[in-house]
Amino acid sequence: MRIWTFLLLLIVLVLKSDVAYCDYLIGLGSYDITGPAADVNMMGYANAEQIASGVHFRLRSRAFIVAEPKGNRVVFVNLDACMAAQLVTIKVLERLKARYGDVYTENNVAISGIHTHAGPGGYLQYVVYIVTSLGFVRQSFDALVDGIEKSIVQAHENLRPGSIFVNKGEILDAGVNRSPSGYLNNPAAERSKYKYNVDKEMSLLKFVDDEWGPVGSFNWFATHGTSMSRTNSLISGDNKGAAARFMEDWFERKGSARIDSAEFENDESLPRRISNIIPTLHDNHHELLELAASFQSPPGRPATKTSSVARRVRGSLRQVNKPRFVSAFCQSNCGDVSPNVLGAFCTDTGLPCDFNHSTCGGKNELCYGRGPGYPDEFESTRIIGERQFKKAVELFNGASEQIKGKVDFRHTYIDFSKLAVNVSSNGASKVVKTCPAAMGFGFAAGTTDGPGAFDFRQGDDQGNPFWKLVRNLLKTPDKEQIECQQPKPILLDTGEMKLPYDWAPSILPIQILRIGQFVILSVPGGIILNFL
Ligand SMILES: *[C@@H]1O[C@H](CO)[C@@H](O)[C@H](O)[C@H]1NC(C)=O
Ligand SMILES: *[C@@H]1O[C@H](CO)[C@@H](O)[C@H](O)[C@H]1NC(C)=O
Repeated sequence: MRIWTFLLLLIVLVLKSDVAYCDYLIGLGSYDITGPAADVNMMGYANAEQIASGVHFRLRSRAFIVAEPKGNRVVFVNLDACMAAQLVTIKVLERLKARYGDVYTENNVAISGIHTHAGPGGYLQYVVYIVTSLGFVRQSFDALVDGIEKSIVQAHENLRPGSIFVNKGEILDAGVNRSPSGYLNNPAAERSKYKYNVDKEMSLLKFVDDEWGPVGSFNWFATHGTSMSRTNSLISGDNKGAAARFMEDWFERKGSARIDSAEFENDESLPRRISNIIPTLHDNHHELLELAASFQSPPGRPATKTSSVARRVRGSLRQVNKPRFVSAFCQSNCGDVSPNVLGAFCTDTGLPCDFNHSTCGGKNELCYGRGPGYPDEFESTRIIGERQFKKAVELFNGASEQIKGKVDFRHTYIDFSKLAVNVSSNGASKVVKTCPAAMGFGFAAGTTDGPGAFDFRQGDDQGNPFWKLVRNLLKTPDKEQIECQQPKPILLDTGEMKLPYDWAPSILPIQILRIGQFVILSVPGGIILNFL
């Protein structure tokens, strides 16, 4: 009899410890990171003429912390910025160390960006990323560091017992492959494994406070932040920033009553403008300034009305203390995924661009991708944002699979300039090595989301003598580098350019966060892969 009682007790203990594993401490935070809204070059299109002159809507840093009670914890931060930056991360970690000691370190904090091409630039530490901003911009950097720190502090102060649910689904109309001819170079056998030529899946985490109920959600979906064009001059979170605002507003409006996403109506009063990539509309500068001035933007507001833990404990569950709903739309493997889903057309003839080179009569700068709101890029931003928002609400409402298990993390630095890679062709395999980074001629052609200048074109495997001469003034690549990079002709040998400091990174930090069965792999550039 005794042994049975003992076994029963053991089973209860095991079950109990298992139950404890899906009881996490969860905290969310959100803070403004808009930065300088005038006279600063924007990050993304590398267009020196794209200078901020106002705000479409404000940018935010949104963070979540998940902790096992008395165990590991992880932090994930999503920025309404083109990408995270190692220098920004180092500064944020320094601040966190001063506040919390070794609770948050490079090992358990991952910072990612949504890849908007409409935020202030100049905050990265490598030369190629700050050429068009004419160097480092302290104001951009400070706004990011301050905002990230405060969003994490908020999340930390909001830590309360709760549970997490996960859901997945496909969005078919928010991203297309912008290099479909390039994709066709993949072996047919590989292509046949996939239903589409880009990843269409959104994954969503839903955070539920034990007492307050749902307090937020983070989702990951691949589509570029290029609904706003390379001529836009208003700071904007692009389609993902818009989606985040739609979802936070939706949740706040619905209060405790259940409202489904269909009730989200278009706000017809939103000011619009026609993109000036349309040649006939180049002279609307005055109109643009007036329009920019007419945009309403709410002040940066905190995610909680109180940051005092003592007050929250005393006034437990008072509505005024309820944390604000935080919803982040994070970027994932968006490599060649464009939100300009109508395809790429020539601005002169209106015909589709050359399929293999994205050119119009041989010229690359006339070929532009069209968003669903064409020719209104604000409308395209809204529509692509809304498509992600609606799917996120659906996944949020239907999320029933609970996240269970350990919280864990791994962090490492990898030197991508000398990795050994095992290549197999026709059954034989050999080990080859990577080499320092280099930008090819095709890079300078840009993409159909933002074509580059001059006579560059995509898919160029020759290069031209004039630009090679210019290149050699900066750095002449040696034979080994040329052979390693071929068939890509080198325009800029960035990986070997070190003056006045590194032009491009070689060593990249890689982060893996695990929350039960949900795993996030984070690399710089703001790109995140997540898998179950
Ligand atoms: C694109 O290039 C491929 C391979 O070189 C060729 O077979 C195809 O005909 C080209 N397509 C067009 C539309 O030019
Ligand atoms: C390379 O891959 C082949 C085929 O998968 C394998 O047999 C071989 O052991 C690998 N070599 C190295 C050095 O990893």
